Amino acid sequence: MALHSRICEVFGIKYPIVLAGMGGASVPRLAAAVSNAGGLGVLGAAACAPEELRAWIREVRSLTDKPFGVDTLLPASVRRDAADAGPSGDLAKPSSMELIGDYRAFAADFMRVEGLEQVARAREPANGEAQRGPAFFSKEFFEAQMEVVIEEKVPVYAAGLGNPGPWMDRLKANGTKVMAVIGSVKHALQVAASGIDVVVAQGHDGGGHNSPIGTMALIPQVVDAMAGRMPVLGAGGITDGRGVAAAMMLGAEGAWVGTAFLATEEAGIQQFQKEVLVEYGDVDTVVSRSVTGKPARIIRNKWAQAWVDADKQPLPMPFQSMIAGPVLAAATRDQRKDIAPGFAGQGIGLIKAIRPARDVLEDLVSGAEQALSRADRFR
Ligand SMILES: Cc1cc2nc3c(=O)[nH]c(=O)nc-3n(C[C@H](O)[C@H](O)[C@H](O)COP(=O)(O)O)c2cc1C
Repeated sequence: MALHSRICEVFGIKYPIVLAGMGGASVPRLAAAVSNAGGLGVLGAAACAPEELRAWIREVRSLTDKPFGVDTLLPASVRRDAADAGPSGDLAKPSSMELIGDYRAFAADFMRVEGLEQVARAREPANGEAQRGPAFFSKEFFEAQMEVVIEEKVPVYAAGLGNPGPWMDRLKANGTKVMAVIGSVKHALQVAASGIDVVVAQGHDGGGHNSPIGTMALIPQVVDAMAGRMPVLGAGGITDGRGVAAAMMLGAEGAWVGTAFLATEEAGIQQFQKEVLVEYGDVDTVVSRSVTGKPARIIRNKWAQAWVDADKQPLPMPFQSMIAGPVLAAATRDQRKDIAPGFAGQGIGLIKAIRPARDVLEDLVSGAEQALSRADRFR
């Protein structure tokens, strides 16, 4: 039996496997490869300036005639963190802007100890001076991205953080299918009320920003809350076909897969980062706020550890990326896997080689089909 669910109908694809939007990794050639192989490729466009996003969309269209998606973050989730950062009327608590000088000194000290030189003309996120258009990760930046998503009439839009409610009418008028990544039942109910088409239940096991709730516990609770109204994709630690089958046994109708597609020839990350994925195992990821300010699962590294050792609380989004950006840019240029190995999920130990994305997709599908057929053994 071929792997099939309502997800295939909603998106017009062959297999219910979706490439997770991963900033820096889910680039046009990877998204196109996944779509061409029968899944749904989704661009990880969170950090794309609006015109760069338009170029990405056009590039993916030149590489595939199949449906594809665009994943960005939405402003409310970032604004909420920035507002929490004060000044909140609590005069004893310094605001994020007041702390930035001290935190920059912490980062400069880290770079000096590690022998990292500033990258010339490094993009300083949220500074905005060095680039045209709205400041990086500002409300205007996210809104300008959404204008491009709407103007380009993309087949699928995915909100990686936040609620796409305010854009739903215009997205629907274009025929765009909409999904939202959530990490709790409460948030699932909120995005469902906005009239989206698919909810992605991403648990604690996953790479990048993640939920405090484990994937295995989260999926069935979200499935129950949706009560058949819309299909649910499972996400977080789903790294081979057995994981896809397990998510489907929990009531999901497919999977949103990140880490498994990171170790592919087409992924936009550095070669040394792909090699780390092959080399490292199950215990080698940690959840840290040191990169973006929100809890994100990352491969263990000295930058994340430095915050723990100093007992220092990273700043909320979007301020922390102003601190981490130059450090990680320098470490990436120097191929420092001990500092900038990248985000990854807990399934990292299942990755044994760097392969074409088509092979990864085909294995996810055939592995799921085999695992589902083996389920009969237990009756
Ligand atoms: C390298 C990397 C970058 C990510 N960047 C984003 C992003 O920009 N936007 C987003 O919505 N999620 C992002 N995520 C989370 C993924 O969309 C997805 O939920 C996660 O990878 C699923 O877990 P898995 O990696 O265990 O498959 C990222 C994950 C990784 C591993």
